Amino acid sequence: MDLLRFITCGSVDDGKSTLIGRLLYDTKLIFDDQLTALTADSKRVGTQGQEIDFALLVDGLAAEREQGITIDVAYRYFATPRRKFIVADTPGHEQYTRNMVTGASTADAAVILIDARKGVLTQTRRHSFLAQLIGIRHFILAVNKMDLVDYDQARFDAIVADYAGFAHKAGIKDFAAVPLSGLKGDNILERSPAMRWYSGPALLVLLETLPVDADVAVASPFRMPVQWVNRPSHDFRGFAGLIGTGQVSPGDPVRVLPSGRTSRVERIVAMPQPGSDDGDLPIARAGQSITLTLADEVDCSRGSVIAAADAPPQSADQFEASLVWLGEDELLPGRGYWLKLGAQTVTATIQPPKYEINVNNQEHLAAKTLTLNAIGVAEFATDAPLVFEPYSEDRALGGFILIDKASHATVACGTIHFALRRAANIHWQALEISREAHAAQKNQKPAVIWLTGLSGAGKSTVANLIEKRLFDLGKHSFLLDGDNVRHGLNRDLGFTEVDRIENIRRVGEVAKLMVDAGLIVITAFISPFRAERELVRGMLGEGEFVEVFVDTPLDEAERRDVKGLYAKARRGELKNFTGIDSPYEPPQTPEIHIDTLRMSPDEAADTIVRALLERGTA
Ligand code: ADX
Repeated sequence: MDLLRFITCGSVDDGKSTLIGRLLYDTKLIFDDQLTALTADSKRVGTQGQEIDFALLVDGLAAEREQGITIDVAYRYFATPRRKFIVADTPGHEQYTRNMVTGASTADAAVILIDARKGVLTQTRRHSFLAQLIGIRHFILAVNKMDLVDYDQARFDAIVADYAGFAHKAGIKDFAAVPLSGLKGDNILERSPAMRWYSGPALLVLLETLPVDADVAVASPFRMPVQWVNRPSHDFRGFAGLIGTGQVSPGDPVRVLPSGRTSRVERIVAMPQPGSDDGDLPIARAGQSITLTLADEVDCSRGSVIAAADAPPQSADQFEASLVWLGEDELLPGRGYWLKLGAQTVTATIQPPKYEINVNNQEHLAAKTLTLNAIGVAEFATDAPLVFEPYSEDRALGGFILIDKASHATVACGTIHFALRRAANIHWQALEISREAHAAQKNQKPAVIWLTGLSGAGKSTVANLIEKRLFDLGKHSFLLDGDNVRHGLNRDLGFTEVDRIENIRRVGEVAKLMVDAGLIVITAFISPFRAERELVRGMLGEGEFVEVFVDTPLDEAERRDVKGLYAKARRGELKNFTGIDSPYEPPQTPEIHIDTLRMSPDEAADTIVRALLERGTA
């Protein structure tokens, strides 16, 4: 017996609890022997043979919701002789977008509840749009409380016409509409004599006959994201994972992404079940967890995707995607976030959104960022190629989440639209003179000496002294200083969080080019955020990024106040000043720590250069 997962959208006022109660109650009475208590949850509804009271049941469901017991997603289970069902009952208010997205992410269908007296509301449109965005393809418009409008066909037709106009704009291709009454039970299990004018199926019949995604998945080309590589002995190398789509048999030609290398499936080893003695499988399908072995030694590791050789997914490092922002903190364009797509994890930076979408009417709004519960479209760049498919074609390979690197909170979920053409059309130009050759000619080991600390900490002073010493040692170096770079390259940037992120990103890219040219680069920027310092570290090779914390406590920097900026900031004449009304995140494990209260600038420079020579950097 197959399983249909669906989500109900609407508020308690629309009669959601009554409708869910009705589905549970009626299937229970009529198909009593079929109701399997799948979880403890369904026991509350009443176990086999036990009489339950409909009103009590509905009250129970509504009370749970009102008392906030099920602020999260509540999953309810019921079954008919034809199918099992899981309903994700999610709260309707805008502040619970996150919960709705959670409930919708695994659903095959959405039942959109409408109060026949009220018609299509803002909330109806918001829920439908979100469900569509998250990949639900089957929509049922449940026009409820028909008993309260005298089962009026004209009323029903008007609502359906209204919804059809919206659905078209929102990208919902198809929907079925049922007039019903959850309270009276009309058109729930079977067609109601009260609405002879309705010739379609009852709600439950519709739910029983909708195609489930699992069937569609098997019909698609074979794709399996590799969860881990199983290498128990020298002569066995198995690739374990869950088949996302399609089917596979030994002998099938496959392509491994992102390397693009091809091979053939040698064996399909079922996941060993405790206590069972599974042998090899002749065929495996979407939804099965298996271990594959390949005929050739190809490059394949956790995060790779094994796919049908003639229908491989795409691979790119720039793409456009929709985002539902779920973080308390707003999106910071330019910040590096962890992007997780299946078993792949990369660092992604996001451009300022192309637009935000007003969820209530689908209008596009100009936006510089996205805040909690906002939905928008933006371009992404990742630090390694991502294997993916557009979300509209493959939910498993097209959906991702974003994670804040510092707090580890999930801050967004996203759906990929397409790879950017420029990602495919800009190639790396192979350079005739390598970075090693540049370094060898200068007889030095290039690196970035990254000084970070508060304004007035002494970064520029120490940086100048370092450069003089390196110069005397015959080293080729260059000093990038905040105040100077902000007069030219970064003239367009101010001191908001977003601008500081971009400031450091650009400086990082320039420093990297200079390292490629063989130089020892010294930088003096406040660089207040850990995330961007780590971003620059990630751009460079092992040992090439030397973080130096020029540690001057705020009160000391303020006492010195060489440029008079602290006084200005305290007077409120300078906004977003680091240490005053803009944060500074000190390094946790810098390569070198300079305590300027105990060390003169000269001593600091000596210490740093000595450390560089010891590390073999200079
Ligand atoms: S960063 O935060 O983006 O790394 P950066 O090092 O480039 O800053 O520039 C800091 C310098 O800009 C300071 O030394 C100071 O002279 C000047 N400045 C002007 N306004 C501010 C401000 N609001 N916060 C910090 N520094 C400022």
